[in-house]
Parts: sequence; C-alpha cells; structure tokens
Amino acid sequence: MRIAVFNAKPYDQRFLDAANHRYDFDLHYLEPRLLTSTARLAEGHDAVCAFVNDDLGRDVLEILNRHGVRLVVLRSAGFNHVDLEAADSLGITVARVPAYSPHAVAEHALALLLALNRKIHRAHNRVREGNFALEGLLGFDMQGKTVGVVGTGKIGQAFARMVHGMGCKVVAHDPFPTEALQGLARYVPLAELLSSSDVVSLHCPLTPETFHLIDEAAIATMREGVTLINTSRGQLVDTQAVIEGLKEGRIGNVGLDVYEEEGDLFFEDLSNRVIRDDVFARLQTFPNVLVTGHQGFFTEEALANIAETTLANVHAFASGEGTLHRVTRAMASG
Ligand code: NAI
Repeated sequence: MRIAVFNAKPYDQRFLDAANHRYDFDLHYLEPRLLTSTARLAEGHDAVCAFVNDDLGRDVLEILNRHGVRLVVLRSAGFNHVDLEAADSLGITVARVPAYSPHAVAEHALALLLALNRKIHRAHNRVREGNFALEGLLGFDMQGKTVGVVGTGKIGQAFARMVHGMGCKVVAHDPFPTEALQGLARYVPLAELLSSSDVVSLHCPLTPETFHLIDEAAIATMREGVTLINTSRGQLVDTQAVIEGLKEGRIGNVGLDVYEEEGDLFFEDLSNRVIRDDVFARLQTFPNVLVTGHQGFFTEEALANIAETTLANVHAFASGEGTLHRVTRAMASG
C-alpha cells in the first residue's frame, strides 16, 4: 500500500516509521495540510493519512477519489471534519483511532486546572525575573471542591477518577451514564452540574447538540469564579461569551487546549507572524486564561498507539485481517 501522510511533523514520522517495521508499507511524508489546493499530492497513492486540522470535505474527497485514493486513515479519534456522506457516495473508506490514551488527555486537563489554580504560569515568569512576591498568586484547595465532568466516556472517566482521588466531589452529566463511576461520581442534569460546580471540565464530543454548550446563558447559571477547562473541541464553547464572562469576573479561570478557530493557528510556529484573530488575541490578555495548542494527546504512549492503530487499519483494509476501525455515518448522527 502506498500511503500519503499529510500534515506530517517529525514526530509523526518517528512514530509511524517505528510502527511500520511490522508492515513495511510505502509511507510518503508530506508537510502540507490536506486542502483542496494540496489534495492532488495524493496522486498515485492508495491511502491518505490525515489529522484533525486537515480538510476532508466533499471537494477534497472528490479530488482524492479522482487520484485513486480508496482509504482515508485518521490519526485521531474525532471525525467531525470528515464529510462521511461524500466519502460513502465516492466509495472511500474512512477509519480512525478510536482510543489511544485517554489518560494523556485527562492528565493534560488536570495539568491545566492545577496550573491555573496555583498560577504556575505566572509564578514561573515572576521567579525568572527575580520577583518572589506572592501577591496575585492566591489559589484554592482542590480538596472538597465540586468538579463537574461533562461527558463520561474514556477521557471523562479518567479525569473523574483523578479529581476524586484529590478529594473532590464529582458530579457528572452524560446522556449515557456509566456504571464504572459508581461511588465516584453522581450523575445530575446539565443545569445542576453548571450551577453547583467550582470546576467544569468538558469531555463530550462536538455534535449539533453540544455546539456552544457553554454560551452566555450557560455562563449566567455557573458559580461565580468558576474554573472552566476544555480539552475536547473548541466549538463546545462560545469564546466571545467566555470573554464577556471573564471581563465581568463571573468566570474565575479558563484553561483551553482547543479553540473554536484553531484550524488557522494550531500546530504551526507562527511566532514571526501577526496573529490576525482578535478573539484569540483578547483571550491571551487575561492573567487567568491558559491556552495550549491542542497538545492533550501529545505523549509518547499516545503517539505510539496512534501510529500502531493507524497502520493496523491500513493492514485490515488491505488484507481483511484484524480490526478495521471504520467510521460510519450512523456514528456521526448517534
Ligand atoms: P468517548 O466517545 O469515549 O466519550 C464521549 C462521551 O461524551 C460519551 O460517554 C458520550 O455519551 C458523551 N456525550 C455525548 N453527547 C453528550 C452531551 N450532549 N452531554 C454530555 N455528554 C455527552 O470519547 P473520549 O475518548 O472520552 O473523548 C472525548 C473528547 O475528547 C473527544 O470527542 C474529542 O473531542 C476530545 N479529544 C481531545 C484530544 C486533545 O488532544 N485535546 C485528544 C482526543 C480526544
């Protein structure tokens, strides 16, 4: 199988090459993101390997189809960026990595929460400048606080266990509650979770129902000084409403690993460029906001699992052996 790996960073190459020792596929690493303007680079390849910020809309899929691509393997769990109806009608199979390391993302959510609470980002800068004053660095004990977990799938469960271990009271909301959290968390309606939590952490997928789950109306019901953590998908949060909440002092801390318009920013070194996104720029002006560039998944273990499952998907597609983690239209609607 000849595979065009789009949006390939040195770390992708390192982990895919290591996993490929088992298969010996013909991997071609391409730096550009997959877009309508770059899709023709897939010519002569059987499969395309893509990431979360690649474009897999109808136009791109049609170009891939014209160039003979039969399989798209996603190096991600999320597939909200794929036009599955178009893929179906063109006969292109789409596969993903359903789970690679829920702990990686849950631990990153916790890192954001603790860093924000104890102002580690600010303390680090101060100490480097020889400023050892503590004014402005006041945090709170996590012990005894109420943490609301929205979405208790693989990542939400891992996060709930961690904060429970720190002595927090955990409330959760999910249309499909799991027994795995019995004795650890109490399921409540979303409105109750929002009004009773000192910390709200989002771990549900982006769907039409969860788009802007945290909007102006939701923020109005949240506890004053609430800490909001989003490591899931940027569009779960109405960023403009969060900015207003921060300005009014209703929201105490915001930790984001994802951002609504991250496609134009994240995963690239833009340090020599002017950031044109004024909403993002405004977010960066708050001392109580901490943003990371979608790095929740970025651990040795997760990258090794992603690479192995991605190539196992190609192997399953080509040989009919093993499990093909296929993405179907039914999954998108359910
Ligand atoms: P999962 O599929 O195991 O769990 C998602 C849970 O959300 C399910 O239990 C589902 O019932 C629940 N859910 C669906 N609609 C809901 C709603 N309206 N309200 C509350 N809960 C709802 O997914 P997993 O692996 O735990 O991932 C969660 C999310 O984390 C993914 O959808 C993805 O967006 C994000 N993610 C972020 C990464 C990062 O690097 N920052 C890496 C991997 C995933």
